[in-house]
Amino acid sequence: MSSTSSMLNVDDKSVELAVKEGTIGPSVVDISKLYGQTGMFTYDPGFTSTAACESKITYIDGDKGVLLYRGFPIEQLAEHGDFLETCYLLLYGELPTAAQKADFDYRVTRHTMVHDQMNRFFTGFRRDAHPMAIMVGCVGALSAFYHDSTDISDPHQRMVASMRMIAKMPTLAAMAYKYHVGQPFVYPQNELDYTSNFLRMCFAVPAEEYKVNPVLARALDRIFILHADHEQNASTSTVRLAGSSGANPFACIAAGIACLWGPAHGGANEAALKMLEEIGTPDRIPEYIAKAKDKNDPFRLMGFGHRVYKNYDPRARIMQKTTHEVLNELGIKDDPLLDVAVELEQIALKDEYFVEKKLYPNIDFYSGITLKAMGFPTSMFTVLFALARTVGWIAQWSEMIEDPSQRIGRPRQLYVGSPRRDYVTVAQRG
Ligand code: SDX
Repeated sequence: MSSTSSMLNVDDKSVELAVKEGTIGPSVVDISKLYGQTGMFTYDPGFTSTAACESKITYIDGDKGVLLYRGFPIEQLAEHGDFLETCYLLLYGELPTAAQKADFDYRVTRHTMVHDQMNRFFTGFRRDAHPMAIMVGCVGALSAFYHDSTDISDPHQRMVASMRMIAKMPTLAAMAYKYHVGQPFVYPQNELDYTSNFLRMCFAVPAEEYKVNPVLARALDRIFILHADHEQNASTSTVRLAGSSGANPFACIAAGIACLWGPAHGGANEAALKMLEEIGTPDRIPEYIAKAKDKNDPFRLMGFGHRVYKNYDPRARIMQKTTHEVLNELGIKDDPLLDVAVELEQIALKDEYFVEKKLYPNIDFYSGITLKAMGFPTSMFTVLFALARTVGWIAQWSEMIEDPSQRIGRPRQLYVGSPRRDYVTVAQRG
């Protein structure tokens, strides 16, 4: 990696700062010594211009709408691969050979069951508990069961913890859904592939045979690929920061799930579908476009806009195609929500407000329509996002742990509070 330097003039000081170039994408100005040289911090709330780390995992070009996992375009991985192949790629950096894939699939498959005492966790929740609340609790609790894979200094234990999380997330997610709908838990079936196993654990009932629909399984597997990783987004940054203190991997992933839940992030898929349901019919779209543009109205078009993509989110295009595939397979000819979504997108993309602010549909805009058609309640949408993103969180966490320059993350601040002042007794406070 090549580097040059840049000069920064601060007050009467002139400071030389190294500029580091990556393989592709923006270079960075290394400010790690700035405070020591100038006594000043940089200021970047929301981290719009801040690179928090070096990474080899995912590259995004927001202006061109490009997304690469370990250099491979998301379009090609979604078209030709499966989710566990993408997991292997994100974790190890290369596409697996046939033997490596078979071994990886075998190892993941043999970790799909959870400790049977986990079942008792669920009975502590109300039936109407949000499945994301259950996931935050249960994934964090995995560290109470798997003490033999919490020592982050041991590469073997890190690998076991990683396998356990990738393998157990579908089981826990399906248990959260079953508990929510009051149906008995369904155990994994190891002869099924990863996503078919998940569909069966969600939708099979003891009263009858369940047959996995291969078109839906393929569509959901592709949706998992689209959600697997996305550079230093909020929940990944949360996992990295939690992991920088040496917290165990299960606790770090639970922190990532908590962050993903927010409607500005992974919770947007649930919020987007609720928005489409609230709009209801295409004739009400102008009213909502006006609300989204009204500075005094907090309403935003959920599933639109992105911190990095200032062009169409490449995942949204694939998502839209998958939506049509699933609706066709299910014989849903005219889905009113899809009619509203397509019309809303066409109006928004021509509206000068959205054009000027470069607001395009993101991955969350169409995913809800697809997942609802598959039979998932809206409260499960972000759980599915978390299920898929677990491998990205783990790959990024592992990269951080294995980085020899890794230190605890500890940002500073611009203090704007009260200067020093002395204590006043309550009698003197008037
Ligand atoms: C995900 O980071 C990732 O990579 C995330 C993710 C991943 O895979 O991990 O891609 C997944 O989280 C996708 C995003 C899902 N969120 C939503 O769909 C929620 C709706 N979108 C917005 O809240 C917003 O666009 C964000 C949160 C996604 C991005 O926020 P930014 O980058 O902080 O942008 P901003 O809020 O400063 O908005 C810039 C301007 C503002 O107007 P001005 O104050 O400049 O006049 O655009 C406006 C905003 O008001 N704007 C919107 C809008 N999004 C931004 N106006 C109406 N509707 C919207 N959706």
